[in-house]
Amino acid sequence: MAQRCLCVLALAAMLLLVFATVSRSMGLRSDEHQRESRIPAEFSKEERVAMKEALKGAIQIPTVTFSYEKANTTALVEFGKYIYKVFPTVLSTSFIQHEVVEEYSHLFTIKGSDPSLQPYLLMAHFDVVPAPEEGWEVPPFSGLEREGAIYGRGTLDDKNSVMALLQALELLLIRKYIPRRSFFISLGHDEESSGTGAQKVSALLQSRGVQLAFVVDEGGFILDDFIPDFKKPIALIGVSEKGSMNLLLQVNMSSGHSSAPPKETSIGILAAAVSRLEQTPMPIIFGSGTLVTVLRQMADEFPFPVDKILSNPRLFEPLITRFMEKNPLTNAMIRTTTALTIFEAGIKVNVIPSVAKAAVNFRIHSGQTVQEVLELTKNIVADNRVQFHVMTAFDPLPISPYDDKALGYQLLRQTIQSVFPEVNITIPGTCLGNTDSRFFTDLTTGIYRFNPYYLQPEDLKRFHGINEKISVQGYENQVKFIFELIQNADTDQEPVSHLHKL
Ligand SMILES: *[C@@H]1O[C@H](CO)[C@@H](O)[C@H](O)[C@H]1NC(C)=O
Ligand SMILES: *[C@@H]1O[C@H](CO)[C@@H](O)[C@H](O)[C@H]1NC(C)=O
Ligand SMILES: *[C@@H]1O[C@H](CO)[C@@H](O)[C@H](O)[C@H]1NC(C)=O
Repeated sequence: MAQRCLCVLALAAMLLLVFATVSRSMGLRSDEHQRESRIPAEFSKEERVAMKEALKGAIQIPTVTFSYEKANTTALVEFGKYIYKVFPTVLSTSFIQHEVVEEYSHLFTIKGSDPSLQPYLLMAHFDVVPAPEEGWEVPPFSGLEREGAIYGRGTLDDKNSVMALLQALELLLIRKYIPRRSFFISLGHDEESSGTGAQKVSALLQSRGVQLAFVVDEGGFILDDFIPDFKKPIALIGVSEKGSMNLLLQVNMSSGHSSAPPKETSIGILAAAVSRLEQTPMPIIFGSGTLVTVLRQMADEFPFPVDKILSNPRLFEPLITRFMEKNPLTNAMIRTTTALTIFEAGIKVNVIPSVAKAAVNFRIHSGQTVQEVLELTKNIVADNRVQFHVMTAFDPLPISPYDDKALGYQLLRQTIQSVFPEVNITIPGTCLGNTDSRFFTDLTTGIYRFNPYYLQPEDLKRFHGINEKISVQGYENQVKFIFELIQNADTDQEPVSHLHKL
């Protein structure tokens, strides 16, 4: 996940506060011929050993993205060779085409036997953020196994997904599996910076006239133990991502000596401006997004009076939002957030600087646009001596469908129920951060962010932090999940087939 990006955080917070959603829709019916030809997700002892060893090997290649410009390109190349070595069947199957995109990213095209079924895309990224060794129980690029878990940078974000995707496909192919529905696997090399790999893959597929039934990328998890006294695990599928804007604020005044200062200085003016921004939060947006649906559907899971409050979210909106505003994570779910991140001015104690600069990072709620947030910001600052420069910005991602007819969402639900029968709560959420999947909005309306992995609150700090690890059992389940998901996707059902029928 890109810097500051955790779908999970949004949910975690929400769950901490006992607000969530259950989806109890009917879902997909599994068709008969599909059940008959099903290959069970059962792996031999040798295969299970080989699959964890393959992940360890992947962790040992330091595919680090250091900054926007800098990455370990030697490691990126080595990783490309590594997947050839450990997944020979994937790389030598006649109906699979492999392409290297943007020098280091990988695109696999798996041709299904039934061209009438719309293809889908599974994606992940194999670059990781840096990992200084301090504080790690084992070296971060060792891939060492301790007490049933594999440690190392990338074990959760996101080499586990890269390896599980290819591993599941390899195991299916060894069992002579031939997919009916075509699909793509895209493995990005720079998600932690600009995502050029994913952008190129998207452009390439568009140039080939591809339209996708759905996309699955990293983002959500199975949240375990996030709500005190609520023992049920909850599968969170990210159906949207917040937008983002980095705004530079600048004040130019004449410089001067500190012995005879003017009434106002660039520093004072800018400080007042950013302080106003901090003191004036963006308006609460309650109705749009998944929140209201989620609250209503989740209500039954809770005792009185929480159930009554949650089942009437509109009525209790003031109460609910007041509650959510108190916690930074839940606050981030009901409004565009404003974060002051850089403040720069002055070089010498006795010189009044002419220029003061500040950067503000906004995370834009799906009910607003970049333009609206920019206008609001200018109105809040209300000082024409402050200049505004948008450094980078993009609008929030559209909300992908999560109803009974949403093929991607329902396939994920079906596969969750099969691989994790104890999980019977699945909720749609919004990622607070961003993923490579945001570059695919021209190819599909169904973009889902989900990692089939149990996450506990203490795991949150491991993302981009120390002692990142994945349990061996958890990784096997991830492989199993993809193994089943690919087979489930061979269903005849099309995403919009029943839309206009009675
Ligand atoms: C880059 O990766 C290679 C392995 O592919 C490794 O030997 C080298 O130490 C890495 N360089 C840095 C600066 O991490
Ligand atoms: C403000 O100062 C900076 C740095 O000296 C300069 O580049 C910029 O053009 C100035 N802007 C205005 C509007 O005076
Ligand atoms: C959820 O799963 C538990 C078992 O873990 C089961 O007892 C319960 O009835 C299920 N609830 C629903 C609504 O399916």
